[in-house]
Amino acid sequence: MGTTMLTQETNELFDKYVIGNYFRQNHVIVKGSGSKIWDADGKEYLDMFPGWAVSGIGHCHPKVVRAIQHQAETLIHMDNTFCNEPQGILARMISERSFGGKCFFCNSGAEAVEAALKLARRYTAKGKYKIISVEGSFHGRTIGAMTATAQPKKHEGFLPLIPGFIYVPFNDIEALREAFDDEVAAVILEPIQGEGGIRAAETHYLQAIRDLCDQHNAVAIWDEVQCGMGRTGKWFGYQNAGVEPDIMTMAKALGGGISIGAIAARPEVADALVPGTHASTFGGNPLACAAAIATIEAIEEGNLIENALKMGEYTRGKILQLQEKHSCIDHVRGLGLMIGIQLNEPGTGIVQRCWDKGMRINCTQDTVLRFMPALNITEDLIDQALNILDEVMT
Ligand SMILES: Cc1ncc(COP(=O)(O)O)c(C=O)c1O
Repeated sequence: MGTTMLTQETNELFDKYVIGNYFRQNHVIVKGSGSKIWDADGKEYLDMFPGWAVSGIGHCHPKVVRAIQHQAETLIHMDNTFCNEPQGILARMISERSFGGKCFFCNSGAEAVEAALKLARRYTAKGKYKIISVEGSFHGRTIGAMTATAQPKKHEGFLPLIPGFIYVPFNDIEALREAFDDEVAAVILEPIQGEGGIRAAETHYLQAIRDLCDQHNAVAIWDEVQCGMGRTGKWFGYQNAGVEPDIMTMAKALGGGISIGAIAARPEVADALVPGTHASTFGGNPLACAAAIATIEAIEEGNLIENALKMGEYTRGKILQLQEKHSCIDHVRGLGLMIGIQLNEPGTGIVQRCWDKGMRINCTQDTVLRFMPALNITEDLIDQALNILDEVMT
């Protein structure tokens, strides 16, 4: 089949058979390797937002590919009626790199958030049901995660929401204090907001949540789905501030491209999920866990957390140089390789022109360019990407 034909035929299949719930490009992507992707016409693109932060160590990392191949030949799926070795090993790896918790596995970020919310209500129990979340947050599209997402636009057409959720302004300790009472079961927060525009929670805000949760016997949930897995220069975003949660959610980059979600919870909290309270058929299957183990090993063997810090600093320096030339850049913010370029105009046109010139970048909240390349990105590729951005802005 000719490649242009492949694009056309695939587009036709999508038009006819796939629900149109995404702003989707017509391009058909057929291959990915490291920080590059190729479309069906053979055109190469630099991917500075690989898989919406899923391909955190680049596309088709060889170590992850080998682990998947090996596991696929051994045991792809095994239900949770039994233990499986990769799930146990992965749980230990997560626990040892965070706060010593116990894990539950599922398949996506939203499912991890659902598990965290259920665990919070189940653990705190007796009269506690309220969940506090902050404005601009994003926690997923299932009904509980969507209700936790404090963005009215995301709720349109899906009312009524689940009762018991309270929204407070981000980084506002007074508002948080006012919202707290003994009916609060949990606060859920992204240590660094992703969809909300790369906005970090201030350390004293995280500490205030921690203190208020302790005073009221509520639990702190840090949503690390986007900012976890080494992206910010630490294994998990919260470790930059050093304020530990009771429950943490993970997904996206955890599986190196394979779908996996997880929560880790302090053992005392985790033990509230007794048999019959929560489950996931696919959760913790050997294939996904083997891919996640290989991902963690690849991050450590390649010193990729250090690289994220180094390349993040390099990128921010380069963007500051661009800011001197281009008045559309207001400022740059972020940690490690979780970088937001705040524009003073809408960014979708820039994203499209970058794509036309062979570079993928993302825009969120209309005016924030999200630059979140793979953790093993090099200076050379960053230069190439920012040269394209420079040309486009010129
Ligand atoms: C912080 C955060 N939580 C949860 C989710 C939902 O994850 P998923 O799309 O895998 O359900 C996302 C997705 O972008 C996210 O950024």
